[in-house]
Amino acid sequence: MGKPRRIQKVFQSNPVIDGAGVRLNRVFGFTETPILDPFLLLDDFRSAIPDHYIRGFPWHPHRGIETITYMLDGSVEHGDSMGNKGIVSSGDVQWMTAGSGIIHQEMPKGDENGKMGGFQLWANLPAADKMMKPRYQDVSSNQIPQVILKNGVTINVICGEVQGTKGPVSDIVIDPEYLDIQVPAHQSFVHPTKTGDTVFAYIIDGQGYFPPLLHPPSPDWKQDPAIQTIGNGTLVLFEKGTELTVSTDEHPMRFLLISGRPLHETIAWRGPIVMNTQEELEQAFLEFQNGNFIK
Ligand code: CO
Repeated sequence: MGKPRRIQKVFQSNPVIDGAGVRLNRVFGFTETPILDPFLLLDDFRSAIPDHYIRGFPWHPHRGIETITYMLDGSVEHGDSMGNKGIVSSGDVQWMTAGSGIIHQEMPKGDENGKMGGFQLWANLPAADKMMKPRYQDVSSNQIPQVILKNGVTINVICGEVQGTKGPVSDIVIDPEYLDIQVPAHQSFVHPTKTGDTVFAYIIDGQGYFPPLLHPPSPDWKQDPAIQTIGNGTLVLFEKGTELTVSTDEHPMRFLLISGRPLHETIAWRGPIVMNTQEELEQAFLEFQNGNFIK
């Protein structure tokens, strides 16, 4: 028998200003690290107001982490100090392993209507891999397989596996899954998860219900105090377990399902650099000042 994952905690994303004055919604960050391990931060930068995002994220360093950018609308122009350049467009993913260090800038652009939107997730690297060689896995939308289940549930598999279909991002230390899932009205979706992994869902459209929901639901299930509707801009973190169930009522729902293996290591975090010890952190900032940050 599987052990269904129940809700551990629900977060609402909150407006913050970052970069050179970008208004975005932060879903989780520094204070949530103990329960989100191996994930460090999730930003939701969907906006239809160019003034909110156009100043972007000028040159800044990263070390010790991975940044994962998934675009829905508009694009982000990316460039790094080693001369790598690219555009992450609607539907594309950039999985960047900063490792020993990159210095880059990320400049958002709206579509023809000024709409821009996407998500940036930060995943931690274990001590043994913090100083690994930097690496990009750039995935264009047409490389992301889509699985359509019999009940109409549609899953874009960015990383991980759904019913034998594997996503294009591979060889990531924390063995993550990153799925973009659309559940039509009045349907359910069940997904197996590794027991000890950290698993969360971030709702990006519509609304739905998370466990415990019985199958089939009892006639008075909406009166059950354990049932809550979860909507756009909300994150659900789950307890440990072997499977996850999501259901909808008359509204469809779209959400990101993300999982990864916790590292259980100490964290020394300042701005865009995340190491294990304060000494390593100081070393990184000193190298950045002295111009020998890039290995
Ligand atoms: Co960055």
